[in-house]
Amino acid sequence: MGDLHALPTPSLLVDRARVERNVMRMASRIAALGARLRPHVKTHKAIEVGRLQAQAGMQGITVSTLAEARAFAAQGFDNITYAVPIEPGKFAAVVAMNAEGTRLAVITDDPEVPASLAAVAKRAGVTVDVYLKVDCGYGRAGVDPEGPALLEMAERIGSAAPLRFAGLLAHAGHSYQARGRAEILTIANAERDVMVAAARRLAAQGIAVPCVSIGSTPTASHVEDLTGVHEVRTGNYAFYDLMQVTIGSCGAADVALSVLSAVVHRDRAQGKLILDAGAIALSKDAGIADPDGVTHYGRLVTLEGEELGLRVTALSQEHGWVQTDDGAALDRLPVGARVRVLANHSCLTAAQHAHYEVCEGTRVVDRWVNHRGW
Ligand SMILES: Cc1ncc(COP(=O)(O)O)c(C=O)c1O
Repeated sequence: MGDLHALPTPSLLVDRARVERNVMRMASRIAALGARLRPHVKTHKAIEVGRLQAQAGMQGITVSTLAEARAFAAQGFDNITYAVPIEPGKFAAVVAMNAEGTRLAVITDDPEVPASLAAVAKRAGVTVDVYLKVDCGYGRAGVDPEGPALLEMAERIGSAAPLRFAGLLAHAGHSYQARGRAEILTIANAERDVMVAAARRLAAQGIAVPCVSIGSTPTASHVEDLTGVHEVRTGNYAFYDLMQVTIGSCGAADVALSVLSAVVHRDRAQGKLILDAGAIALSKDAGIADPDGVTHYGRLVTLEGEELGLRVTALSQEHGWVQTDDGAALDRLPVGARVRVLANHSCLTAAQHAHYEVCEGTRVVDRWVNHRGW
């Protein structure tokens, strides 16, 4: 299909070999720990990556939008968990997908939701699986695993036929605050322990918990023991990114996503390059500051992947600013030169683009659609 010199800039590039390796490695790691993997497809929103994950042995997928659910269901992915808390405006769509034969499970921590969702499901004559969302320390949403709401909500879901209590679900998003394996492991162990203890509390009250579902890329990349956990939902690991490198989830050679960009302005006196990849192409996610304290929007490499020692340190809509006192680097990059900007936060960078240019080295071998939107 051509090479990186023939593509328009900016273009979103994905390195197929790295995706395959990332997907295989996580699948074998979670299988070896005795749990099922239900990858979160929000990172890639691409059917082809879902198929790679299926080949690696996943059991169902996780989605963050109903658009992802519809796109994947249309391609035969029929076991889906929608892992953003459900609200009444989406009940009809969820029930309709279940009626059409897709198991689309939802999550909630809200006392009003079970009865009102049950009423809609009952009218359609379908069962809907509902997980109770638990806060395992992130603080975004979910019931307190040690408080009274855990039991109350599990009972509400379990008694709201035709809903089925599917289990407990949490996301350790606070693992993104960790740095290095030891800190990640502390959070990973707490994530597991909090959830397994919550399931035991329910079991002691006679409520069976069919599934304990956890997952974040930092914790799943390092956890060593998943006893009591049935399912892991990792997303970012398919691509990884510079943020995950800084956290310590992966190495630089695992980052599969970059944005092809051209130099559109060079000013030697000011030590400045401007790229045609701005906020729209890279996203405005500054991720996590590098160990030297510099916050940026991505690191520049050559088309072959060689580090250039340059970072995008400021953005406007279609411009990326690269400030440097490295004259030799400036000499290598005249207007028209092409570079790749490694993604800072791949989930957000990918979602800026309608499709991926799939690369093997510098050859473009395929194009994958990104099923964006809601
Ligand atoms: C509910 C939920 N589950 C799983 C994940 C996957 O996390 P990660 O991309 O760190 O693997 C996320 C990510 O935002 C999430 O919100």
